[in-house]
Amino acid sequence: MDDITILGIESSCDDTSAAVIRDGIMLSNVIASQDVHRKYGGVVPELASRAHQQNIVPVVDTALKEAGITAEQLDGIAYTRGPGLLGSLLVGVSFAKGLALAHDIPMMEVNHLQGHILSHFIDLPERKLPHPTFPFLCLLVSGGHSQIVLVKDYLDMEIVGTTIDDAAGEAFDKCAKVMGLGYPGGPIIDKLAKEGDPKKFKFAKPSVDGLDYSFSGLKTSFLYFLRDEIAENPNFIEENKADLCASLQHTIIDILMQKLIKATKQFEIKEVAIAGGVSANSGLRTAVAEEGIKRGWNTYIPEFKFTTDNAGMIAMVGLIKYKRGEFSSLDVCPIARSAEF
Ligand code: KG4
Ligand code: ZN
Repeated sequence: MDDITILGIESSCDDTSAAVIRDGIMLSNVIASQDVHRKYGGVVPELASRAHQQNIVPVVDTALKEAGITAEQLDGIAYTRGPGLLGSLLVGVSFAKGLALAHDIPMMEVNHLQGHILSHFIDLPERKLPHPTFPFLCLLVSGGHSQIVLVKDYLDMEIVGTTIDDAAGEAFDKCAKVMGLGYPGGPIIDKLAKEGDPKKFKFAKPSVDGLDYSFSGLKTSFLYFLRDEIAENPNFIEENKADLCASLQHTIIDILMQKLIKATKQFEIKEVAIAGGVSANSGLRTAVAEEGIKRGWNTYIPEFKFTTDNAGMIAMVGLIKYKRGEFSSLDVCPIARSAEF
């Protein structure tokens, strides 16, 4: 089955994205980010779905044009069914249904988290990218998820560790918010951390059984620490911004790495990938690469454009489902939580 061309649509959170993939090669990947949330310090669901409605037509149109094709040349349409914000998902799901119906082509529903993981199988027109071999372990870290996933095959995955409270991205975002740094906090902390001393401050590390994570204790201890310091010196944050960011980032990475290393030992797997928005973090990328050299892992660190939400990864999962004949019906509706999948 060659020359299969798939359109991917992603609208689960605050990015409207459309991408075209042909035989695993990405021909376009258009992302419209929504600035309206910035002043609220987080995503406002109602505003997100309205912005998706405004963006979806031009984003899909641009993705087709950049790929140099028309909708008639599509073989199938992949869309994010969930998890995510219901109102946001509804825009992408409805649009996909309309387009599939109009062109009489099949649709494939995609689990957003599988999308992040399978982004490791996309190639670029100018070069092939390294693909992990099965089975591999994927540390999936985003604004809503922190999981260690045992990937046995393209669509055969098992979550072997997950956060019992906040996600790693949330820890970045919430701590950035209390420091008054803006949203999303991850990239801002990452940038400021480069100038700071990662050993300057020590924050609480959780003790959770097995391969599970916890980040809410870190967030709370960070908050109390700041409160006490500010009581003595009102300029504490301003004067220690870089060191605070570096130390916080160091702690989050340490927590993530400890369980990832534990998982590689438990499953005796040396194929290790990272995915999701937080995999854009320069400290985490370095830590995984260095640990990989030390422990003889083959590491898979995604291109930056595949770390945060994008439709390329959705189209990739769609392509695999298309080849397997796993199509979705027109009466499918979005799913908000991953547990419902
Ligand atoms: O995968 P994603 O785009 O959306 C979700 O599915 O959640 O991830 C967004 C998350 C946000 O929490 C953001 O702060 C974080 O990824 N993030 C980063 C970096 N870039 C994005 N966290 C740390 N360092 C970064 N460079
Ligand atoms: Zn995501």
